[in-house]
Amino acid sequence: MPLVPMKQILDEAVKGDYGVGAYNVNNMEQIQGIMRAAKETNSPVILQASRGAIKYTNMYYIKYMVLAAVEDNPDIPIALHLDHGNCLETCKQAIGLGFTSVMIDGSLKEDAKTPTTFEENVEKTKEVVEYAHKFGVTVEGELGTLGGIEDGVGSGTVKLTDPDEAVRFIELTGLDALALAIGTSHGAYKFKAKPTLVLDIINDIEEKIPGIPLVMHGSSSVPQNLIGAINKYGGKLEKTMGVPMESIKEAIKRGIRKINVDTDGRLAMTGAVRKYLGENLDAFDPRTYFGAAREAVYQTVKGKMENFGTAGHAGDYKPKTLEDMKKIYNK
Ligand code: G3H
Ligand code: 13P
Ligand code: ZN
Repeated sequence: MPLVPMKQILDEAVKGDYGVGAYNVNNMEQIQGIMRAAKETNSPVILQASRGAIKYTNMYYIKYMVLAAVEDNPDIPIALHLDHGNCLETCKQAIGLGFTSVMIDGSLKEDAKTPTTFEENVEKTKEVVEYAHKFGVTVEGELGTLGGIEDGVGSGTVKLTDPDEAVRFIELTGLDALALAIGTSHGAYKFKAKPTLVLDIINDIEEKIPGIPLVMHGSSSVPQNLIGAINKYGGKLEKTMGVPMESIKEAIKRGIRKINVDTDGRLAMTGAVRKYLGENLDAFDPRTYFGAAREAVYQTVKGKMENFGTAGHAGDYKPKTLEDMKKIYNK
């Protein structure tokens, strides 16, 4: 099957009451680890590339590595999504490449640092929705700002999503999925102690607009065993905590459908490479340590697919194409 519009994957998750992980990818081993987990658990999957990923990997390599995953996994619905698009131009580029979904992070200005006003966010998001829907492409927007900074992306301050504003935002923009700020943040250093997320924001929005797919960024759990593996083999990561799986499961029960995960994949790969090289001082074939990294991504993502409830749902529906979505949006 060709790449699937993300809207269909999320709408099906709404019907089935489960969450779908959106995993950040930058290289072949990550894609292969994630796809092995999706195949073995029979899960639909969202592969997402940030601007940083596109810069590092090169847009053609991202595109064709993901298309290779599609060809290799004909029974798995896969969406290719732009993570944290900063302006219409970036979204246009992704759509031109064949991405089936884009995020316009209108909560920040084009510099991806300075927070916008509600009105600016509406305007920025709406222009992307109008453009993307002409091509059948899904749009995710964001209201509120997360903490944490990744590669210079993020304001570093937190503004939780206001549920009434969120309802107005969804209505004014016509977007397909909304990312919320409910107390999570990007990166490995999220919390010093077990966090309390403001999960009632999810219920408040779902009560007013039932079935709107909601998105949770900054959802890595930062498992202690991954931090431990890195530090055991020479790493020096500070004590930190991520989002506990129980909180993610509770958020899914309340209406979160897309769960963004980048950091846990990074930690898994780093731990595996450090361990392999630490234990095999004579190693120099990259296939050995990158192979270990790929295995670690597979293990980590497989656990998430089972916990998010994605497992078993790949064959539930007949995949739509962008052409189908064009007709739906433009009627
Ligand atoms: O939300 C941000 C993601 O973790 C992507 O991070 O810009 O370093 O690729 P990146
Ligand atoms: P983590 O840093 O928690 O993995 O979050 C990733 C993310 O939100 C990507 O958009
Ligand atoms: Zn994010």
